[in-house]
Amino acid sequence: MSAPGSGVDDDIDSLLEYLKSNRGFDFSGYKRMSLERRIRKRMDAVGIDDYGSYQDYLEVHPAEYTDLFNTILINVTSFFRDGPAWEFLASDAVPKMLAAIPDHQPIRVWCAGCASGEESYTTAMVLAETLGDEAFRDRVKIYATDVDEEALAQARLATYSSDAMKNVPEELRAKYFQQNGTGYTFRADLRRSVIFGRNDLVQDAPISRIDLLVSRNTLMYFAPEAQADILRRFNFSLNDTGFLFVGRSEMLITHGELFTPYNLHWRVFVRVPQPGMRDRYAFVTNAGGGIENEDGHPGRQLRDAAVDLAPLAQVVVDRTGVVTSINQKARALFGLTPTDIGRALQDLEISYRPVDLRSALDQAYETQRPVRLGRIAWRGAGADELTLEVDVTPVETAGAALLGASITFADVTAQAELHRLHSQSKRQLESASEELQSAVEELETTNEELQSTNEELETTNEELQSTNEELETMNEELQSTNDELEHVNEEQRNRSAELDRLNLFLEGILGSLGIGVVVVDRQQEIQLWNPSATEWWGLRSEEAIGENLLGLEMGLPMDAMREPLSQALARDPQKSEITLEAVNRRGRTFECHVRTLPLITADGETYGALVLMSEAGQA
Ligand SMILES: C[S@@+](CC[C@H](N)C(=O)[O-])C[C@H]1O[C@@H](n2cnc3c(N)ncnc32)[C@H](O)[C@@H]1O
Repeated sequence: MSAPGSGVDDDIDSLLEYLKSNRGFDFSGYKRMSLERRIRKRMDAVGIDDYGSYQDYLEVHPAEYTDLFNTILINVTSFFRDGPAWEFLASDAVPKMLAAIPDHQPIRVWCAGCASGEESYTTAMVLAETLGDEAFRDRVKIYATDVDEEALAQARLATYSSDAMKNVPEELRAKYFQQNGTGYTFRADLRRSVIFGRNDLVQDAPISRIDLLVSRNTLMYFAPEAQADILRRFNFSLNDTGFLFVGRSEMLITHGELFTPYNLHWRVFVRVPQPGMRDRYAFVTNAGGGIENEDGHPGRQLRDAAVDLAPLAQVVVDRTGVVTSINQKARALFGLTPTDIGRALQDLEISYRPVDLRSALDQAYETQRPVRLGRIAWRGAGADELTLEVDVTPVETAGAALLGASITFADVTAQAELHRLHSQSKRQLESASEELQSAVEELETTNEELQSTNEELETTNEELQSTNEELETMNEELQSTNDELEHVNEEQRNRSAELDRLNLFLEGILGSLGIGVVVVDRQQEIQLWNPSATEWWGLRSEEAIGENLLGLEMGLPMDAMREPLSQALARDPQKSEITLEAVNRRGRTFECHVRTLPLITADGETYGALVLMSEAGQA
């Protein structure tokens, strides 16, 4: 709710005005609370807080209109919604309605607010079941209208998912639908009798000469004045023998002048005919019958006495305006006396107080009909206020000659008070039932909103479920990749252990040879340096590996090694063995026998060279 003076109402009004002038949608007659909630929902979705900015947003993003209208126009519907109410319609109201229509005449139905068409096809099935296919095709026209074009487009397709079909009894499903793929399509030959079209219940002309008007769960979205407006149009639409079928929470309690219940429980109504002017005049009775002139009748005295005592105050004047009789009640009421008889009425106060009698008398004489002056308040001297009903009735002879007039004053104070109390209670009752009705409708619309939110949540849930399933599949794929990797890992570990074992084995061999063994690659960089080489030249394997052999400074003259090494790399065997004078790490001079061999891989490539060093005469 908006805080007083916050301007929120103004803003939403200007937004509604904008929607009306730009898109032709008039939402001003919709229930405010529900409307605000729906618009807010869209505003939240696009992250906007006030109506003004949302209007700007709509101007820049026209696609938002669709989302907004879809949110406001709640399309919750289903086949045979409120099943028992449809059973009543099919078994009672429809046969009665059909019985009143001559056999050759068309049967006209209007489904107003048909949403995606389920209700219109339900109506079609009910009528086809009663009439048979042929008569249905020949005679029935169902005009199914809504303001929501998207819903209408869906309705025109006449195809529904099996979930949407769950309320359609199995035998009707088999009889009236064709299954195609996962959907069910309403039979084409009967489908032709259902005509869909856009009709705005607030702004467009109603459809006329309707025998059955189905408008369910649509009125409840409108505020009372708009509901009354729509119902006046429905009253115009419906034939006298027709029925109006509304939704479970729509009781039309406050529209008794337009519709009266045929069966309130199942919300079936009949129209109250609205008389035209001629009809209205027919209600006015011609009460001006002649009164016998009974002059000279033997009972006259008795009659005069009886008239004098009558409870109705009466003053009689003759055609010249002279008072000819004032009964006791009139005398008491207006302070008149018998001496006033014979005076001109216009000389008495009663001629203008409590009401002007002179013009009423003129009118009565002129039209020769009674004139009713209605209820008038009158307070006699020192008395309580009374309500008097005043009638002026012309008095004629049998031959219609005017004799004068009788003026009566009926004391209807008690009735008026009763009437006042009755109207007051009626108003209270009406306002209580209006409030109740509005509360019931509010509850129902909230219910529909919840249902629509629930459907959205179900979709989200389904999406989450499908994402979850995808994640699970990915998880399983990852698990299987993991298994494979573990397997590869295991193999790798085995190989590594094997390699370690081979390395130890090789190191053992190289260590036990007792000669220096060095392996270089083709760039003469040292790749292997065995323990005997360390022992002789004082270089540890980790210091030697990666170094260029010819660049090392040790007790062997490297210049002399250059040629044999390049010959070995070139696979030239000529100078493969030389003896050089060398100095070991302890400074001892000795004859070093050096053998240089090409190192060839299993596939015949030259990897590098193998240099074997031993003390001459020992190897
Ligand atoms: C909740 S659905 C009811 C559908 C169906 N009658 C039922 O009871 O299952 C209300 C329908 O009223 C339609 N509606 C809302 N305002 C309308 C208007 N001004 N004129 C015509 N239809 C309107 C909506 O588009 C929506 O399809």
